[in-house]
Amino acid sequence: MKKITMSLENELANTAPERIEANNISKSFTTERGKVLALDNVSVKVGEGEFVCLVGPSGCGKSTLLNLIAGLDQPDSGQILANGENITGPGRDRMVMFQEHALFPWLDVRGNVLFGLCLKPGLNSKERQEVAKYYLHLVGLEKFERANIHELSGGMKQRVALARALAPNPRVLLMDEPFAALDALTREHLYGDIQRIWEARRKTIIFVTHNVREAACLGDRVLLFSPNPGRIRAEFRIDLPRPRDINSVELARYSTEITTALKGFTTAQGQEASE
Ligand SMILES: Nc1ncnc2c1ncn2[C@@H]1O[C@H](COP(=O)(O)OP(=O)(O)O)[C@@H](O)[C@H]1O
Ligand SMILES: [Mg+2]
Repeated sequence: MKKITMSLENELANTAPERIEANNISKSFTTERGKVLALDNVSVKVGEGEFVCLVGPSGCGKSTLLNLIAGLDQPDSGQILANGENITGPGRDRMVMFQEHALFPWLDVRGNVLFGLCLKPGLNSKERQEVAKYYLHLVGLEKFERANIHELSGGMKQRVALARALAPNPRVLLMDEPFAALDALTREHLYGDIQRIWEARRKTIIFVTHNVREAACLGDRVLLFSPNPGRIRAEFRIDLPRPRDINSVELARYSTEITTALKGFTTAQGQEASE
C-alpha cells in the first residue's frame, strides 16, 4: 500500500471549501400519520466558502436536507453534488455537528477531538496530538484538554464538538441547530467564535436553525423553508459586515423582515419559528 506522508504544516493549512448543489431534491418518509413529503423539489446552491443558513419551523425538512448533503441518506429523486461530483456517502470532507453534542463520555476532551482524526490518514501519533491541540486552542479550550466531558458546561461541550468536526479539516461544515439547547449568553459568545473560526478556516458552512436572528447574524444568505411539504419559499442576502453583533439595530431589521415573511408562510399551518 502506498504510504501517505504529510507534514503538519500541510495538515493545518486550509483545504479548499466545496461548492454544494442540490438539484430538484424530493424526499418522503412513511410514518404512522402516512406519507410525509419532507422535501418537495428543493434546489439549493451554496458557493465555495459561503455561509448559508436554513431557517424554518420544526418539520419543514431542514435536517432532512442537511443529512442528504452529509451523505447520510439518499434522496428519492434529484441530485446532490459537491464540486460537481455526486455525493454518495458520508466522508471527512463534510462533517456534521448536531444540537446534541454527541461526544463520547468515556473519552476526555482531547480524546474526543483525536477521535475525529481517525478519519484522517497519514498522521503519526505526535502529529495527531498537535492537530488536536491546535483545534482546542481555536475553540478556546486548550486549558481543558484533560477534562472529562461531564465536567463541561453545555457551551463547552459544543466547542469540543466543533473542534472534533474541524479536526479532520473538512471542506464543508454542516451544523444542525448546534446552539439551540444553550442559554442566550453562551450562544452570543459562540456567534462571535463561529464567525472568527469561519473567517480563519474558510469552510463552506450550511447552518440549520429555527432562530431567525441567529440566521441573520451568521449567514451570507438565509433560506426560508416552510413545511407540508418542505419547500424553500424565500431567500435573503444579509449585507452586513462581520463580525456581526446579534443585538445590532441593522441586524434586527433583517430579522424582522425574515420573520414577517416566515409568518406569512406558516400562520396557515399554525406554526411559528422563534425570532
Ligand atoms: N427518519 C424519518 N422517519 C420518518 N419521518 C421523518 C424522518 N425524518 C424526518 N421525518 C419527517 O419529515 C419531516 C421533516 O423533518 P425534518 O427534516 O427533521 O424537519 P426539521 O429539521 O425542519 O425540523 C417531518 O414531518 C418529520 O417528521
Ligand atoms: Mg431538524
